[in-house]
Amino acid sequence: MKALVLSGGTGSRLRPLTYTSAKQLIPVANKPILFYGLEAIRDAGITEVGIIVGDTRREVMEAVGDGTAFGLRVTYIPQDAPRGLAHAVLTAEEFINGEPFLMYLGDNLLRDGVAAFAQRFREDSAEALILLSRVSDPQRFGVAELEGSRVVRLVEKPREPKSDLALVGVYLFDRHIFEAARSIRPSERGELEITDAIQHLIDRGRRVESVHVNGWWKDTGKPEDVLDANRLLLEHLEPAVRGSVDPSSRLVGRVVVEEGARVVDSEVRGPSIIGAGARVENSYVGPYTAIGRNVTVRGSEVECSVVMEDSQILDLGTRITDSLIGRGVTVCRSPERPRAVRLVLGDHSWAGMP
Ligand code: G1P
Repeated sequence: MKALVLSGGTGSRLRPLTYTSAKQLIPVANKPILFYGLEAIRDAGITEVGIIVGDTRREVMEAVGDGTAFGLRVTYIPQDAPRGLAHAVLTAEEFINGEPFLMYLGDNLLRDGVAAFAQRFREDSAEALILLSRVSDPQRFGVAELEGSRVVRLVEKPREPKSDLALVGVYLFDRHIFEAARSIRPSERGELEITDAIQHLIDRGRRVESVHVNGWWKDTGKPEDVLDANRLLLEHLEPAVRGSVDPSSRLVGRVVVEEGARVVDSEVRGPSIIGAGARVENSYVGPYTAIGRNVTVRGSEVECSVVMEDSQILDLGTRITDSLIGRGVTVCRSPERPRAVRLVLGDHSWAGMP
């Protein structure tokens, strides 16, 4: 079995972060989202992985390399434009070469990985296996209608969903999906939808099986999803202090302080992680916070947030919460008069004032 990982797309709902970074490389618990998927694929016993890349290909290739670091053999497959998931499948036809495969959307995270689903597909004679999860906002997803355990209908982002069963971004297919992907027409949003291709399989009487995902699942399409994913992943943190914590500081609960990180005169409440080379000084870092590599937090309070590498939060008079802060960002108290908020924000930034 091979794997096909989709790591293209524009990530418009995660702007401005995605103007400078692939959405799949946004870190949660200080690790790029995409890496969790690659590890899950490896843990499912798959080693041959094709990664579909788009405009952000250079970055993705630099981060993942040839896959050796993950125990994988990675082939990059460029897609000319984000023309849909079924279009991506067709782009990878040569790479897949008739084998069964697991398709994984690179911005999805599953608590329990994908090994059990890959195993079931290996043992089954189904032509497709889809994963379903109950959600409160099904109109954001592909939605399945079941009769008993049989999938009868799949609709992509329905305005009036007939069920709350969302299609998780992990699918198992055999070679029949290629013919299905070739038979469908672009959707209203102008994309070849994988949901329509699977519906095509159903309409042709092919065996499409479904399985419910028990552990949590997150599609990290929006900032609040990234923060949620960060919170869920930090729950699994094993405390460890590899950096330094001075005697006047306090670590409460599960906290990781990475190598070269320094915590001085501060309180860090877990679950939280302080990345390598970061400095937390005279500050409070609250629970569910991931402080990236080489970040400085000085004289400030931060909680339930992701702060990416090389950023600094300096001498703020107010607490930062539920925030997603990119790379190389400075948030500081400004001594200038008149006393006012001064901002240099990129397009599509968002700033919430108290
Ligand atoms: C895609 C699929 C959708 C699925 C979702 C899961 O949506 O089209 O059916 O439910 O992934 O993450 P997109 O994230 O491309 O809007």
